[in-house]
Amino acid sequence: MSKNSIESTLHENRIFNPPAPSEVGASEWLISSLDQYQEMYDRSIADPESFWSGVAEDFHWFKKWDSVLEWNAPEAKWFNGGKTNVCYNCVDRQVDNGYGDEPAIIWEGEPVDDSGAPLDQRTLTYKDLQTEVTKLANVLKSKGIKKGDIVTIYMGMVPELAIAMLACARIGAPHSVIFGGFSAQAIADRVGDANSKMIITCDGSWRRGKVVPLKNNVDEAIQLMKDNGNQPVEHVLCFGRCHNDIKWGELDRCWNEEMEKASDECPCEELDSEDMLFLLYTSGSTGKPKGIVHTNAGYMIYTALTAKYTFNLIPNDQGGQNQVYWCTADCGWITGHSYIVYGILPNRVPSLMFEGGPDYPTAARFWQIVERHKVTQFYTAPTAIRAFMKWGDEHPESCDLNSLQVLGTVGEPINPEAWMWYRNKIGRGICPIVDTYWQTETGGQIITPLPGATPTKPGSCTLPFFGIDAIVCDEAGNEAGVNQGGLMAIRKPWPSMLRGVYGDRQRFIETYWSTVAKDGEPYYAAGDNTRRDEMGNFWIMGRTDDVINVSGHRLGTMEVESALVAHESVVEAAVVGMPHEIKGTGIAAFVTPAPGFDGGDELIQTLRAHVAEEIGAIAKPDMIRFTAALPKTRSGKIMRRLLRSIAAGDTEITQDITTLEDLSVVAKLASSDEE
Ligand code: WTA
Repeated sequence: MSKNSIESTLHENRIFNPPAPSEVGASEWLISSLDQYQEMYDRSIADPESFWSGVAEDFHWFKKWDSVLEWNAPEAKWFNGGKTNVCYNCVDRQVDNGYGDEPAIIWEGEPVDDSGAPLDQRTLTYKDLQTEVTKLANVLKSKGIKKGDIVTIYMGMVPELAIAMLACARIGAPHSVIFGGFSAQAIADRVGDANSKMIITCDGSWRRGKVVPLKNNVDEAIQLMKDNGNQPVEHVLCFGRCHNDIKWGELDRCWNEEMEKASDECPCEELDSEDMLFLLYTSGSTGKPKGIVHTNAGYMIYTALTAKYTFNLIPNDQGGQNQVYWCTADCGWITGHSYIVYGILPNRVPSLMFEGGPDYPTAARFWQIVERHKVTQFYTAPTAIRAFMKWGDEHPESCDLNSLQVLGTVGEPINPEAWMWYRNKIGRGICPIVDTYWQTETGGQIITPLPGATPTKPGSCTLPFFGIDAIVCDEAGNEAGVNQGGLMAIRKPWPSMLRGVYGDRQRFIETYWSTVAKDGEPYYAAGDNTRRDEMGNFWIMGRTDDVINVSGHRLGTMEVESALVAHESVVEAAVVGMPHEIKGTGIAAFVTPAPGFDGGDELIQTLRAHVAEEIGAIAKPDMIRFTAALPKTRSGKIMRRLLRSIAAGDTEITQDITTLEDLSVVAKLASSDEE
């Protein structure tokens, strides 16, 4: 055993009990003991309908529901017959109840001056947010957008992104947010699949002192769609963020001008509980990203309840003492949807948004933001924590982090060393860490500690949230024993579960509902391997499919392969994950070059740039190796396990290597148990 793995095992066996609330400066823990958690959990599983209708009572309904749950696996209807509006519950309700002057969104933008202080910052109260959202909703309507029309949002991290999402929710036009790091091709694919009539974008966004040319990418995407003969977009609404020079074409409308003309009267649509709130594209094991569909009511109440208990969110008039919640995710991912916007605003604790990167202008940026705004709850990804560990302790040490009460992580497994560093260096050795496990498909956190209740172990996401009947099992639904690996499955429906894959029912059923079944009843299969320890804690061990998690971003290996083979120099490509110190998982590509192309450094650079162009910079391979042939089984399947072990450096290649390795030789040497 290496020194690292011994340390890791030691850490994994440590148990940290929740501190008293006063120890971290909190007024109380909303769920304050394991017994209280257990009692509520048992109740939520034994009688989900009464549990969730109790939760739903706290929200605003234009009309109450007829039934809490109609379950005809895999079809769930929650609060059917009810009429509500998510935007109303996030924004208008706070204003109507007299909280209009409280801060809803606190924003810090780039550029920053040399000391790290923001030049651009804004606080929007609920009233401000209501004004902006209603005006934008009117702009959308004036462009012919109505209930059911899908609006694509491709913006940087500015408050206008949240405003755009909420304006869509207000009028019942489902949004499809595309991460600002995706390329024109990726935009074209998603806009085409959703048949989206409108794109909302920015002239650009700031990242590390440079402008990301968002509008140019949209222009290029529209051209690509035109070339394909499928160009559904009628309007591009562009918000001016960076005075970036852009071309104004026929479809383009200026956000800033349109908003000046718009009225701030626009009542919320009374939407059905099961109307679509948004779709969000995510990678699966095939080449094509899928649009995960979420609906109004169940998603709203589940994300708000998880946010409340996981982060211990308490508004001021209930004793919260000026909490400020900060999630560092981008709204282009599910984490930003659920835990910057929809799950946070109903809880009436300000949600901080920032533009830029964690290490610009210095690696102290995050900690300066924490200090400046006295952030109480901080939610980030393990990849960021590992990067901060590398950048040095002097950065967090230079800032006052005493305001922090709860620390969260999400997106990928956190290694115990990073967990310990987070607790000790950021959390003063006392703040509880909530390692939240969930997915785009689950809508909200499904396995997570509650900070005042759950004993935590470094590296474990611990116990299921209320209403989540999660088990570790085999394909027949039989539960695994203690510490035995198995599939992560959920036996019962929960309010924020995905309702489908947009336009592809077959894929919905095949991907999630065809792996595990017991007595003819399908269970939701998450696609993760996991185990439970003797305390019942869950430990996530990695994907069961060809999805890799790069810096907490989900990518299908097939997507990267398709991008590679689209280049003229590539005959065949196989992509696997490999261990990466910061990213958790890096991307390794094995490529067979076309005749006339020599595998060399220049081609490596060309291919990396090509993948960035096809998908986005996050998909650039960290390692490209050229091989005359890929290792295959007798039936012709690429031996991915062997490639993974080569990429990890576990399998030595001993044969003579000239320009091209011949990995088919290694395949013959390796055992053929991959067949
Ligand atoms: C992984 C992100 C371990 C997992 C919210 C899951 C995690 C996929 C954790 C979903 C965690 C997410 N511990 N693994 N705390 N959180 N994952 O859809 O493999 O971008 O299936 O949602 O990330 O990624 P997605």
